[in-house]
Formats: sequence, structure tokens, C-alpha cells
Amino acid sequence: MHTKGDSCCCSFEDYKLTTEWLMNQTSIRPKVAVICGSGLGLLADGVSHKQTFRYQDIPNFPVSTVPGHEGCLVFGTIQNTPCVFMQGRFHLYEGYSLCQVTFPVRIFKLMGVESVLVTNASGGICPDFKVGDIMLIKDHINLPGFAGQHPLCGPNDERFGIRFPCMSDAYSKELRAVAMDVGSDLGCGGFIREGVYCMVSGPNFETVAEARMLHILGCDSVGMSTVPEVTVAKHCGLRVVGLSLITNKVCLDYSSEEKVNHEEVLEIGKMRAGVLQKLVTTLISHCQQSINTH
Ligand code: HPA
Repeated sequence: MHTKGDSCCCSFEDYKLTTEWLMNQTSIRPKVAVICGSGLGLLADGVSHKQTFRYQDIPNFPVSTVPGHEGCLVFGTIQNTPCVFMQGRFHLYEGYSLCQVTFPVRIFKLMGVESVLVTNASGGICPDFKVGDIMLIKDHINLPGFAGQHPLCGPNDERFGIRFPCMSDAYSKELRAVAMDVGSDLGCGGFIREGVYCMVSGPNFETVAEARMLHILGCDSVGMSTVPEVTVAKHCGLRVVGLSLITNKVCLDYSSEEKVNHEEVLEIGKMRAGVLQKLVTTLISHCQQSINTH
């Protein structure tokens, strides 16, 4: 299971084994899972009754290799809602298969999670976006998926979901509306946006021609993650909300001298960590309330 690159390497027994191992280690039964993007691991700081597991100690779990991704699963509660935080995620560019990248999502499903809150860092393509804006993901473009790099390729396991899942409503409209309201209440309405996120495999940042193509395709921001996890979450019936922190402006202009780098991405993450944490905390309790009233 730990080997990189195989197209589908996880059997239902692998998922079950990891789920049972975790459920034997913790009595927390999370209802909400939060996947923390680059430099956003601090989002787990507000968790009470914390129980932390390093990825390398969890059977079958991949290990993250990127600076800014700590590699821990944190269980606990946020305002009485049981949750689990992934501090660090897995990316295609690290050499992992999409089955490994999305492995934790199915574990969350088997543990009883109902909603997934995904965060990431992305480059702003929409000319109106500014560095530090928080974009609520309205929809996505699965560019690697167009080329056959898709987490649901291979035999379908009906225990998780159907062969041809609908993706037209991947990001919960209701939770997006809640996020927008919460953002305004917190006084950050001025920099909360909504838009379409595009996934590229990376690891290089885009060329100017690629960036211009993405702009023409209708992408508002671009990043190297999120879409596989969201696709697998939606496939197995989880509600999804996505927050993308705009950490840089993607260069659409050959005369620009600006050069994007990973350190800048992490820096902006730190700058907005406080606001994002409040937003995530409030959204978690709303997720739980709206499930209770359904
Ligand atoms: N491109 C791709 N991924 C990213 C970027 C970007 O500009 N910024 C943060 N992640």
C-alpha cells in the first residue's frame, strides 16, 4: 500500500483495517473532517480534547513530503462537534497515486464523517482577486481527470458510491451561503469571493501561456490539490465545502517581473491563519447544526 504510483492500490480491506485501527485508538467519532492546505495546518490549533496521530504511525497511511504539510491526523472537538483535521495532504506531484491521495477521505466516510471542509492555497487568475482573498469554491475543473488521472478510474466499489456520480453540485450551496454569512459577520466580507478552482498536477507553477488558457477556460484560481479529495468525497455521499486562500496572483502578462514561489504561498497562509481559523470553526458548528435539523 505504501508504494507510490500504482493506479488503484487500496482494497476495501485496507480501508477497513485503517478505520478499525483508528477507532480502537480514539473514542472520538468525527462528524466533520477538515483537510488543511499548504501552510494551513494551524487550523487545528483550536481543537479541544486533542488526540494526534502521525501519518507514519497509522497503518496504510501515506506520508506527506512537502514543507508546510505537517503529516498528522488530529482528532478532537470544536464547540462540541467531534472532528478530525488532516494537517498535511498528499499530492499527485509527490508521486502518489490518486488512490493514495484520496485514501483518508474514505477512512473518514467509514468513521461516520458527514461533511468535509477542504482548504488549499491557490494562485488567483481572476483579475479582480487580490493576494489574501479567500475564495469559496463554487465549482472545479478536473484538468488531470480530463487526461485520465482520475481517482475513480478502475473498478467501482459500490460500497462507496455509484459508477457514474453526478458532480454538478459537488460544493454544497447551503454551506457556501453559510460561509458567506459567517465571513460577513466576522468582518471579512470584503475579501471573501466565490469562484471556480482548477487543479493542475504541478509541481511547476504555470507558464504564462498555460495561465492564459486557464483564464479563457473560466478558472478563477489554480492549485495542485483538492479536486481528487472532493471527487471521492462526493462519490461516497459526503457534503463538501471548499475554501481557497489566494496566495499569489498568477502571471498572465509576459512583461511582468513577478516570480511566484512556495515560501510566498506559506507566508500568506500565516497572514490569514487567524481569519481562516475563525471561519473554519464557525463553519464546523454550522455543518453540525444543519445536519441535525435535516
Ligand atoms: N499555481 C498552482 N498552484 C498554486 C499556486 C499557483 O499559482 N499558488 C498556490 N498553489
